[in-house]
Parts: sequence; C-alpha cells; structure tokens
Amino acid sequence: MTVRREDEVLGLREAGRVVRRCLLEMTNHVRAGVTTGELDEVAARVFRENGARSAPVLVYGFPGQVCISVNDEIVHGVPSGRVLRDGDLVKLDVTVEKNGYMADAAVTVGVGTVPPDRTALVDCARRAFERAMRVARAGERLSAIGRAIETEVTESGFAVVRELAGHGIGRTIHEEPIVLNFEDPRDPRRLAAGMVLAVEPIIAAGAGRSKTAEDGWTIRTVDGAPAAHYEQTIIITSGEPILVTETA
Ligand code: CO
Repeated sequence: MTVRREDEVLGLREAGRVVRRCLLEMTNHVRAGVTTGELDEVAARVFRENGARSAPVLVYGFPGQVCISVNDEIVHGVPSGRVLRDGDLVKLDVTVEKNGYMADAAVTVGVGTVPPDRTALVDCARRAFERAMRVARAGERLSAIGRAIETEVTESGFAVVRELAGHGIGRTIHEEPIVLNFEDPRDPRRLAAGMVLAVEPIIAAGAGRSKTAEDGWTIRTVDGAPAAHYEQTIIITSGEPILVTETA
C-alpha cells in the first residue's frame, strides 16, 4: 500500500510493534532442545496478548502461526516437533495482521555455538538490508534496492536466492511491487514517498538455487547449503525510511 495519512502510519506501526515483540520473545526461547512447534506456541501467545492475528494463516491457510526454517530450509518452514540443535540457524519470519494492517519481519538466530562461516552468513543478510536502506529513498529506482543487496551479498562470497523476493505490503501480505534482491536494469520504476515495502535479503552459502519440499510449503536449498534471512517492513520517505518493524 501507499500510506497517505498519519493514522495509516500509526496502524502499520502498531502491527509492526507486535511483529518485533514476537521476534524478541521467540528469539529468547531459541536454544538447543526446543522444538520449532514450541516457538510457534510462543508466537501464538504474543499474538493473543496483543490483539493480532497470523497473516499467513489468514491469507494462505499456513499450518502454523509463523514460518520457522532451519539450516538449508530457506523460508516458509512449517513449525513441528523438530528439535533445535547446537549450531543450527533458525529463521523466524513473522507477519501479523492487526486492525486491518499487516507488517512482516524476519531474523536469523544461531542456536548455541555457531561456526564462524554460518555467523558470517547471518551478518551478511543484515548488512545487505542496511545497505539497501541507504538507497531506499523517494525518487530512487526500485531496482537500486536489489543492486545494493546483491552487491553486499556477492562481495561477501554468498549468493542471493533469486527465486525469492521482497514485496509491497500493508493491507495484505503480498502486494505490488515485487522487490527483487538483485538489479533488474530494465525496470524503470521509481520509489515514491509513502510506499510500504517488505525488504528481505534471502541468501545462501552455496549456489542459492531453491526448491519446494514435499510438504508443499518449505522452500530449501537444492545443494543443502545453509540460508539466512533478514527482513523489515519500511515506509519510503524523501529521507531515511521509517522502519515499521523496528521497535517493540
Ligand atoms: Co516478506
């Protein structure tokens, strides 16, 4: 959506606050021995306590409150009895609906002691997001976001998962435009003030090719290499973007 009024900004911020609160609570519960299903129960409680609902359930009938993807699972992992182990990379991806507004954010959390090459992957996804924030300005090309992300990821020796992308958001989860994580030089579209976008570097240590798993939801890397994901919902302005999902 494109916001035009202050009450729309406040509505998005309220949804964003629940997203951040949920991510913080879930992160606090991540440790070896916990199941992804138990983390999903934490999310359900946070939603309940804050008058919010799971957007993937509302929009897609997703079989969990939030998406939880481990190691080579890139996105859309279904919470289950899977037990987290030391060294795992857990991607927590939370999209909520509150009062008709939707906001979306994701973090990658390491379980216990994580090998340095995996930590580097996690850090790179966040750096790529921050690099994109330096060019996400009204009047810039939309594809400047993808260029910034791809440059950071490639310089760090990792790969963008090209089949997955960020998106417009606000009234439902996936709105126009698609926000690629690489540059499409033929795309002339420009960012405009008020545009609400979920910007989300989705990257992998290997070749970055992806496939859908047998459950029909989970997307994993073809080569089994670990993936990392960092995402926030932002509002474009003429200056620094408003980070809707930054504060709890
Ligand atoms: Co998203």
